[in-house]
Amino acid sequence: MRGLVLAGGHGTRLRPLTSTGNKHMIPIANEPMLFYGLRQLAHAGITETGIVLGPIHEGIREAVGDGGAFGLKVTYIEQGPPKGLAHAVLCARSFLGEEPFVMYLGDNLLERGLQSFVDLFVRERADAVIGITPVNVPQQYGIVELAGARILSIEEKPRHPKSNQALVGVYVFSPKIHEIIATLRPSVRGEYEITDAIRALVERGDRVLVERVHGWWKDTGAPEDLLHANDLVLECRLPEEFSQTGRVEAGAVLRGSVAVGDDSVVEAGASVQGPVVIGRGARVGRGSEVGPGTSVGDGVQLNGCTIRRSIVMEGAQISGPLHIRDSLIGRYADIRAQGPISWEIALLVGDSSRLRL
Ligand code: DAU
Repeated sequence: MRGLVLAGGHGTRLRPLTSTGNKHMIPIANEPMLFYGLRQLAHAGITETGIVLGPIHEGIREAVGDGGAFGLKVTYIEQGPPKGLAHAVLCARSFLGEEPFVMYLGDNLLERGLQSFVDLFVRERADAVIGITPVNVPQQYGIVELAGARILSIEEKPRHPKSNQALVGVYVFSPKIHEIIATLRPSVRGEYEITDAIRALVERGDRVLVERVHGWWKDTGAPEDLLHANDLVLECRLPEEFSQTGRVEAGAVLRGSVAVGDDSVVEAGASVQGPVVIGRGARVGRGSEVGPGTSVGDGVQLNGCTIRRSIVMEGAQISGPLHIRDSLIGRYADIRAQGPISWEIALLVGDSSRLRL
């Protein structure tokens, strides 16, 4: 069985972060979100994995390389402009050959991984396994209507959803899917939809099985989703996974689970309330307060600011008496408060941006 990880697309809802970088390289708990899916594929025993790249794919090849660090053997597949999930499979046709494969949407995170999908597929000799979970806004997802285990309908982002059971971003397919994809037409939104291909398999009477997802699942399409994913990953991390190899000065206050990476320092007069991860070579300066649900990337400098429930990416600097919450701060961004700002602000700041507040 092969793996196919989709890391193309435009990531429009995360602009300006995705104007300069690939969405799948945005860190969750200081690791590119793409890494979570790659590890889960390896954990399910998959080795040969294709990564589908879109127009902006800065950093992916450099970070993942040949996949050896994950226990994978990675092949890169260029999709170019995103024409839909089924189009990504079409682009990977020669890589996939006649083997079954797991398709994993690179912007999805699943607490319990994908092993159960693969097990069901193999055990039941299925033609496809899809994952479902209940959601609050079914209009934003592929929606499956069921009668017991039988699929009655499956629609992409329906205006009038027939259920609240959404497709999650993990699918297992036999090579039969390729015959169907070859005949697909673009949907009204102009994409080759994998949902249409699955519906055709069902209508043809092929064996499409449904796996109900246990544990949390997150599609990280919008800024709030990234922050929520960051919360979930930090909350689920075991206390022993928060190692402190950096320096915590006497007079710094750390509460809860806090990781402090190599060559980082939390200075006297700073306070950190976990769960928080601080990467390598970072500085939480005197008078800074870091609150729960925050990931502080490598080389970040925090000087006298308060920040909670945020993702601060590599090399960013935040200085001055300001209170930041629910924010995404891009790589090497430079934010300075010229004078005290007493109210809390929520920011979405692109890479290398300069803000003087
Ligand atoms: O997250 C689950 C949902 O994912 C499902 O419920 C939907 O049925 C499914 O269509 C998909 O919807 P999204 O609107 O979330 O898809 P999105 O365009 O965000 O793309 C999902 C991933 O696939 C993302 O990591 C980008 C990548 N992608 C997307 C397209 C359209 C590609 O690599 N190539 C593409 O052409």
